[in-house]
Amino acid sequence: MSHIPIEAAPPCTLFLFGANGDLVKRLLMPALYNLSRDGLLDKNLRIVGVDHNAASDAEFAARLEAFMRERDKASQGANCLDEKHWSRLAKRIGYQTGDFLDDATYQAIARRIEKNPSANAVFYLATSPRFFSEVVQRLGAAGLLDENAGFRRVVVEKPFGSDLASAEALNACLLKVMSEKQIYRIDHYLGKETVQNILVSRFSNGIFEAFWNNHYIDHVQITAAETFGVESRGAFYDSTGALRDMVPNHLFQLLAMVAMEPPAAFGADPVRSEKAKVIGAIRPWSKTMALKNSVRGQYTAGKQGRKQLPGYREEPRVDPDSQTETYVALKVMIDNWRWVGVPFYLRTGKRMSVRDTEIAICFKPAPYAQFRDTEVERLQPNYLRIQIQPNEGMWFDLQAKRPGPALAMENIELGFAYKDFFKMQPSTGYETLIYDCLTGDQTLFQRADNIENGWRAVQPFLDAWKEGGEVQPYAAGDDGPAAADELLARDRRVWHPIG
Ligand code: BG6
Repeated sequence: MSHIPIEAAPPCTLFLFGANGDLVKRLLMPALYNLSRDGLLDKNLRIVGVDHNAASDAEFAARLEAFMRERDKASQGANCLDEKHWSRLAKRIGYQTGDFLDDATYQAIARRIEKNPSANAVFYLATSPRFFSEVVQRLGAAGLLDENAGFRRVVVEKPFGSDLASAEALNACLLKVMSEKQIYRIDHYLGKETVQNILVSRFSNGIFEAFWNNHYIDHVQITAAETFGVESRGAFYDSTGALRDMVPNHLFQLLAMVAMEPPAAFGADPVRSEKAKVIGAIRPWSKTMALKNSVRGQYTAGKQGRKQLPGYREEPRVDPDSQTETYVALKVMIDNWRWVGVPFYLRTGKRMSVRDTEIAICFKPAPYAQFRDTEVERLQPNYLRIQIQPNEGMWFDLQAKRPGPALAMENIELGFAYKDFFKMQPSTGYETLIYDCLTGDQTLFQRADNIENGWRAVQPFLDAWKEGGEVQPYAAGDDGPAAADELLARDRRVWHPIG
């Protein structure tokens, strides 16, 4: 998160491990293109794809170009691929054929760095997670992480571990060969403007602090509803599930943005220390309480509009008897002064009715005494809704008097939609993250303790589910299983409608 005005990032060689994977062509390359278009890449930035398939520099660049053109065509020009900008970027693209487990690959990488006038290098691990520690150890052994002549940084994609023990082991492995300052653990939610805006809105508008606590807030709901199923990722997803895929990372980042204390400054360490504190304050449930406070769902065949959709167990590369959850709803409590007694309800699911990622902050109700003779039961509590996507913005749900002689109430909205205020350039969300890594700003990246605290808070659910509880079915196109409504009904609360 940079302070304006921003200038081109320093020169470096950016190695993209897993260059032939989806992430590079779908997100990283378009993000690099956007940065280059905006003049934020140095003329000595080189991008080198690394993967085992043989290809030349020119072939790799041509493959990326074909994909970018296809993407632009599919969006009917909305991605605005410009000939001049693309050819400037294409000249900087290279490719290194190499096995990630072969020392020769790392010697070739060293030679690539020597060819660049700048000794800086970033190694971006866009590979399958099983290679993370293998690659990092080899980078270390080859001396490529020594910062004698320039900076050396490693970007680690998610999933970062699959439980607390594996996350701790991966952190230990990374920290053996480099310092925390060189590690950039990505959570792409932090690249979203709307997520960054939570911090800015909370801490730059004095009014929020006045009611941002357990005196005025009744509870908080965090929802990430997706309409997609598991697409081509059946094998990965079936061994992962919704909890691991979305909660310790994306949903906890949203929780941290809402619940953290004000940092002393907007620097990497103050911000990440406050996040680590609040995630670390999530109450570790016993196994019994973890079962009571969680609901797992799995989609069965259903419909979105007129479209007939298969059930999860019929998806390619998914076990036909799979018990993996595609939906999860949780209740968590934060044991600190600000939030004691305020439940945070989290839910996320695939194949739901609409796409909607939002935070709904529900305020304590008014006493209603003055309105005894009105339709009080129609009154809703006040909500502040922060929409992360797709309709980016913030809305306050309030009550107002319906015009006319009767004292009648209506729910109304005060709103701010990004699109009404700002001209947004097409963006992937990775632009800020890549730029920040190149400029050495770790604010939007996860520190080791952030990651481990996240896993520590979800571990009780993972442990409890091994021994009990059942996956509840919900039809594709619905909003999750009925048990998720019961989770809130038990506390005399309801989910804010999705969408
Ligand atoms: C990824 C998960 O990290 O985030 C996916 O692996 C999920 O399963 C995606 O679909 C959601 O991201 P976004 O930006 O579409 O909300």
